[in-house]
Formats: sequence, structure tokens, C-alpha cells
Amino acid sequence: MSARSLRIVGALLLLPGFAGPATAEYGDVVINNYSDAAGMRPVIFPHWFHRVRFRCAACHADLGFKFKAGGNEINMMKIIDGEYCGACHNGEIAWSVENCDMCHSAKPGTPTQVHESTVQKLLAPAKPKPRQ
Ligand code: HEC
Ligand code: HEC
Ligand code: HEC
Repeated sequence: MSARSLRIVGALLLLPGFAGPATAEYGDVVINNYSDAAGMRPVIFPHWFHRVRFRCAACHADLGFKFKAGGNEINMMKIIDGEYCGACHNGEIAWSVENCDMCHSAKPGTPTQVHESTVQKLLAPAKPKPRQ
């Protein structure tokens, strides 16, 4: 590679889009109730990736995940005890908790949200319906 193209590649790497693996996709849930405050990158939960592998009820009934981004008080003690993500990320059903960066992969400061949800782009969102 010429010195000039190396400089171009170098400049590209400094662009925000190339800043590193902040990998949220459409429908991913960013969970950041505690991570930022604890100095960890927020968590990206790839919802579609899991939905195609498991029934809704496996998580939302059996494991008690509430249907709300950030609506569960998840922490590492609970995960290591086998609750929430830890019911599967235990080295048996899926890789285990020592892989911190696999889950804590969002850009620091990303708020709890459903990434790229169309609702975030509405200028006049509908009034939330009361939950049953
Ligand atoms: C399977 C996914 C997963 C893995 C792997 C994982 N975490 Fe977490 N962690 C979470 C989730 C989900 C939360 C809750 C996030 C929030 O609300 O901010 C969390 C929260 C935390 C918190 C803040 C709450 C607390 O318990 O203090 C810390 C600190 C943390 N993780 C550290 C780690 C470290 C260190 C590792 C690796 C040894 C790790 N995590 C691996 C999913 C994971
Ligand atoms: C592997 C576990 C898992 C499976 C399977 C799963 N979900 Fe989820 N779901 C979650 C987690 C985790 C969250 C985020 C909870 C949080 O942030 O605390 C979530 C969040 C949601 C939300 C709330 C999003 C928002 O706007 O706040 C809805 C709705 C939802 N899931 C529906 C479904 C449906 C429908 C299915 C089946 C087609 C399904 N889920 C399958 C784990 C799962
Ligand atoms: C019902 C079981 C189950 C639960 C609950 C669960 N996972 Fe997973 N997860 C899996 C399986 C299975 C895989 C695929 C593992 C593999 O490829 O070896 C996976 C993979 C992942 C991946 C990697 C996706 C990819 O593109 O390779 C991430 C990130 C992840 N999980 C985060 C989480 C977080 C965060 C939670 C809790 C909020 C969670 N998971 C809860 C079963 C689960």
C-alpha cells in the first residue's frame, strides 16, 4: 500500500462509524440501568438472534423477563446465580459469563432503549396504553 492510501485508511479508522464494535442492530435492546454507573459498557441484547432460537415464553414466562426494555433489575449476582441471562449463559446452553465484552458491547453512554425502533423517530408518539 502506498503512503497515501495508508493515510486514507488511517483517517477512515478515526471516523465515528469506525470507532469500534458498537454493534446494535434494528430491534436490539440496549440495557443500561447500572452499566455506565459501574464503569462497564452498556449491554446489547440481540432480541432477534434469540427470538429465532427460543419461544417467547421461554424467556418472558419461564424466566420472568418483563416485556420492557430496561424493565428488569438485572445484575451480575443474579446472572451468576442462573437468573435472567444466566439461565442460558452458563457454559452449557450458551457461552458463560466470563465473556464480558460479548454482552457489554454498546458505546458508553447509550441509554436503555430498543435500538432504532421506529417509535423513536415519531414526532408525535401515541399515548402509551395502560399495561394489563
Ligand atoms: C450474558 C450477558 C452478560 C455477560 C457475559 C456479562 N454481563 Fe454484566 N450485565 C449483564 C446485564 C444484562 C446487566 C444489567 C445491565 C444494566 O442494567 O446496566 C449487567 C450488569 C453488569 C454490571 C452492573 C451491575 C452489577 O452487577 O454490578 C457490572 C459491573 C457488570 N455487568 C460486569 C460484568 C463483568 C465484569 C462481566 C465479565 C466477567 C460481565 N458483566 C459479563 C449481562 C452480562
Ligand atoms: C432469550 C430470551 C427472549 C426471547 C426468546 C424473547 N425475548 Fe423478548 N425480550 C427479552 C429481553 C431480555 C428483553 C429486554 C428486557 C430488558 O431490557 O430488561 C425483551 C424485550 C421484549 C419486548 C419489549 C421491547 C420494548 O419495546 O421495550 C417485547 C415486546 C418482547 N421482548 C417480545 C417478545 C416476543 C413477542 C418474543 C417471541 C417472538 C420474544 N420477546 C422472545 C428476552 C427474550
Ligand atoms: C433462553 C436462553 C438464553 C437467554 C435467557 C439469553 N441467551 Fe443469549 N444466547 C443464547 C444462545 C443459545 C446463544 C448462542 C450461543 C452460541 O452461539 O454459542 C446466545 C447468544 C448471545 C449473544 C451473541 C449473539 C451473536 O450474534 O452471536 C449475545 C450478545 C447474548 N446472547 C446476550 C444475552 C443477554 C445480554 C441476555 C440477557 C439479557 C441473554 N443473552 C439471554 C441463549 C440465551
